[in-house]
Amino acid sequence: MFSFSSFKFTLLLPLMVGCLMAASASNFNNDFDITWGDGRGKIVNNGEVLTLSLDKSSGSGFQSKNEYLFGKIDMQLKLVPGNSAGTVTAYYLSSKGSTWDEIDFEFLGNLSGDPYILHTNVFSQGKGNREQQFYPWFDPTADFHTYSILWNPQSIIFSVDGTPIREFKNMESIGVPFPKNQPMRIYSSLWNADDWATRGGLVKTDWTQAPFTASYRNFNADACVWSNGASSCKSTATSTNSAWFSQEMDSAKQRRLQWVQKNYMIYNYCNDANRFPQGLPPECSMS
Ligand SMILES: *[C@@H]1O[C@H](CO)[C@@H](O)[C@H](O)[C@H]1NC(C)=O
Repeated sequence: MFSFSSFKFTLLLPLMVGCLMAASASNFNNDFDITWGDGRGKIVNNGEVLTLSLDKSSGSGFQSKNEYLFGKIDMQLKLVPGNSAGTVTAYYLSSKGSTWDEIDFEFLGNLSGDPYILHTNVFSQGKGNREQQFYPWFDPTADFHTYSILWNPQSIIFSVDGTPIREFKNMESIGVPFPKNQPMRIYSSLWNADDWATRGGLVKTDWTQAPFTASYRNFNADACVWSNGASSCKSTATSTNSAWFSQEMDSAKQRRLQWVQKNYMIYNYCNDANRFPQGLPPECSMS
């Protein structure tokens, strides 16, 4: 008995370790290209960490090598610390062309001790104007936090450290276009937006604090990779895809979402009637 189980153990241990390593071995060199910034974007620590920086001459940015059509995409970010007023760190998915789809996280910097704004938006077929903004319930510059986009045929769910902050449901049934046909790449950039970012542009970037740096690690994509006009996932009809493909929020997640929306949401386009004199967008009457 004893020898049998220890035999099993010695056999399984290397396999288990192998799995753990596969799960944690995200390497930015394999999945991303630094696309601009003339050396201000860097992949360091053997591919474990990516950093973007911004100074008076330029910001920087990167993009994924792959395109995805649906996925559960996680990234850990540690935002520009200290006086980050005027800076914007964007982290988003986007397709190409004039009727593009886009799913955005944007982080608007602030003076030391004043809160960042976590800005979100969803574009479908070139049309956005669906902003929701939040104050983070933690200091996003003190440590890494996980920002996730779950994008499947039913909905888009934005989460922070596993807490959903926003859901954009597929409401094609009432005529609201939903991103589902155009593969998207992951993009991120750090740039100067002091004409609007902080207190609507009142607070300018303090260049004596430059360079400003944001860091990324632990990228993970459970996703359908799009290449040569085909998806790496099975067709929806066969339903043999992973759990994320049909995932919806359970009641515990719904309650977390409500907690965030009640306590930390500072702007919701659906409450901004002045902006839509012809009437609020149709999806606003659904939630
Ligand atoms: C910055 O701090 C001010 C004062 O607390 C706040 O009104 C504003 O929403 C904060 N965030 C940004 C990005 O302006």
